[in-house]
Amino acid sequence: MQPALLAALGLALLLMHASVPLGYYAAALRVLRKHKASGGRVSEEVISGVTIVVPTYNERNNIIDKLNNVADETKGMGESEVIVIDGGSDDGTADVAESWRPPPWVRLRVLREGLRRGKHVAENEGLSKATEDYVVFTDADSLWAPGSLRAALRALSRSDVGLVTCVKRPLNIMEVESGYRDLYNMLRLAESAMHSTPIAHGELIAIRRDLAIKLGGLRPGADDSELAHRVAMSGLRAVAVDGVICAEKVPRGQGYVEWRGRRAQHLVAYFASALRDLPRAPRGYRRVLAVEAYLHLVNPWLALAALALLLAAASMGQLLAIAVLALVALTVLAIPHARSWALMQTFLIVGALRNIRGRSEVWRKVEK
Ligand code: GDD
Ligand code: MN
Repeated sequence: MQPALLAALGLALLLMHASVPLGYYAAALRVLRKHKASGGRVSEEVISGVTIVVPTYNERNNIIDKLNNVADETKGMGESEVIVIDGGSDDGTADVAESWRPPPWVRLRVLREGLRRGKHVAENEGLSKATEDYVVFTDADSLWAPGSLRAALRALSRSDVGLVTCVKRPLNIMEVESGYRDLYNMLRLAESAMHSTPIAHGELIAIRRDLAIKLGGLRPGADDSELAHRVAMSGLRAVAVDGVICAEKVPRGQGYVEWRGRRAQHLVAYFASALRDLPRAPRGYRRVLAVEAYLHLVNPWLALAALALLLAAASMGQLLAIAVLALVALTVLAIPHARSWALMQTFLIVGALRNIRGRSEVWRKVEK
């Protein structure tokens, strides 16, 4: 093929790769602006009677901070139940959890599975033992910003809402009014205003107990998002809420790559299977699901194909291709958002390839 043709094709694919996310972003901004203008208020009723389920596998260094945070968040809400469900940790997590002195308003139960069976199995066990009407699943290595639990339960008290999840902040800016707006949080909030977000975070998943049981509990892989998807498919909404804020510990170095890679792999597998529900998805959610599935499954490959074509043309001395590649390199180097975007595309591609070999329901514990 002629170098000029290769370059033109590469450029066209690159523009396609950029256009859907940018268009979606613009649409999301419009939706959020309209939503803010119309108030989008939730009822003031605060639900009491909540069971918090914390699955743990080797969380010795996190569990006390986690339980203290849960104690702070449940204060003034009547009596709450906290179930720590430990999957055979060999670092004494369950003993450390048992040594914690709960405040008068917390009923602590430490359950021992004895062996590691996967996060979703532990969560389902916790769900079956829960006694309160509302259940909140939360990872042990995450913390909630002040007022998040109340805000989550308030949002859940709306009759059209079936599941509530959080927006995410880095650990160092956890204040509610920090004004910190991340691209991904913005999309989650906009999708929630449209109908539901298909991406939920294991740091906080609040749901009515009977609904979680009716839906058959949690499934392996991206268990958090997958539950949100089934809630949305049931006709109820799965929403991220602005005042519900979580932070999680992020691993560094080699562990970071492994951690991001596994999560991307789970997301790819999840969207590939959720896509089958597209024809039956409720209006409003259907478009969100279609775009997100496209962004996770198809769009990364357009970028890869574009780069391959441009590189081929550039190697033949094609000037347009060289210029476009230089521009891409500059953008990725200079703009942090572009950098994290490029990284995510890479993880999604590697994740898809890894899924061919199959994925594990239990993952290696990454040090944080
Ligand atoms: N009982 C039990 N058994 N708990 C487990 C197991 C297990 O086999 N595996 C993990 N956990 C616990 C961890 O101790 C932690 O509290 C929580 O489940 C999440 O595990 P992490 O190892 O911290 O996972 P992550 O944060 O990287 O995973 C993220 O993505 C997953 C999907 O890919 C989180 O958002 C998860 O919630 C999500 O399921
Ligand atoms: Mn985690």
